[in-house]
Amino acid sequence: MTAAILDGKAMAGTIRAEIAEQAARFTRESGVTPCLAAVLVGDDAASQVYVRGKRKACEAAGMRSELLTPPATTTTEELLDLVGRLNDDPAVHGILVQLPLPESIDELRVLDAVRPEKDVDAFHPHNVGLISQGRPRFLPCTPHGIQQLLVRSGMEIAGAEVVVLGRSDIVGKPMMLMLAQKAAGANATVTLAHSRTRNLPEVCRRADILIVAIGRAKFLTADMVKPGATVVDVGINRTESGLVGDVDFDAVREVAGHITPVPGGVGPLTIAMLLKNTLEAARLQTG
Ligand code: GUN
Repeated sequence: MTAAILDGKAMAGTIRAEIAEQAARFTRESGVTPCLAAVLVGDDAASQVYVRGKRKACEAAGMRSELLTPPATTTTEELLDLVGRLNDDPAVHGILVQLPLPESIDELRVLDAVRPEKDVDAFHPHNVGLISQGRPRFLPCTPHGIQQLLVRSGMEIAGAEVVVLGRSDIVGKPMMLMLAQKAAGANATVTLAHSRTRNLPEVCRRADILIVAIGRAKFLTADMVKPGATVVDVGINRTESGLVGDVDFDAVREVAGHITPVPGGVGPLTIAMLLKNTLEAARLQTG
C-alpha cells in the first residue's frame, strides 16, 4: 500500500481565500484593517524566511503587517518595552514574537508580556488555560492547522487512537488538549508520547492518527506505523540532503494510509491559521 498524500499547501490556499473574503467583509463593515506586528530578533536565516512568509500571507489576504527587527544584542528589558508599545498601539491587533529568541533573552517573560487579546500564537498562559478548558480565545496555529487538515480531509477523529509524538508547548501539548476535547473535530483518545516513552514503537503502532513533532530528522520509521494509519509530519530539519521532516517519508509511505509531505504539508496550514487569528484578534478589539 502506498499512502495518499495530504496536500497541505492546496488546502492552505483554500483556507487563505476564505479568510481573505472574511477579512474584506470585516474591513468593509468596520473600517478597520487587521494588522499583525511581527517581532524578529537578530538574523536567524530560517526565522527570516518564516516571518517573510507570514507577512506576505497577511498582505495577500488584505491585512496589514508590521515588521520590527531588533538586533540580536537587544536586552529582555528593551524587548519588553517594544512589546508594551505594540500592546498599547490600537492599530496593531496581533503580535507575533518569532521563536527562537537569542539565548540571552528571557523568552517566557517576553511571551507572557504579550496582551492575551493580541496573542495570535496562543502562547500566553491565559490562552493556554482557555484551550485546556475547551473555550479557546485563539487556537495555536500549527495544531489548529493539523486539526483542519484532518477534518477537511474527512478523517474520523472521534473515538480514534491519536498518538502525538513530542511534548512541546508550541505543538505537542496544545495538540493533545485540542484533540481530547468534547468538541467537533475532536473526541479522540490521545496519547502524548515523547523521548522517554517506554516501548515507543509499540505505542506508536496503536495510533490511527500519528502526529510527529519531535524535532529529529526521519525519527518515525516504518516499523512504528500501523498499516493504513494517517501520519502527520510537523518536522522541518535542515540536513546535508536538504529539508526533511521527522518522518522517514519514503519508507513510512509504503505502510501508512495517508501522509503529509515536507515541505508542503503542515507548514502552509500554520500560516493560514495565523491569518485566521489575526482577523479574530481585530474582531475582538473592534467594538
Ligand atoms: N517558531 C517556530 N514556530 C513558531 C510559531 O508557531 N510561532 C512563533 N512565534 N515562532 C515560531
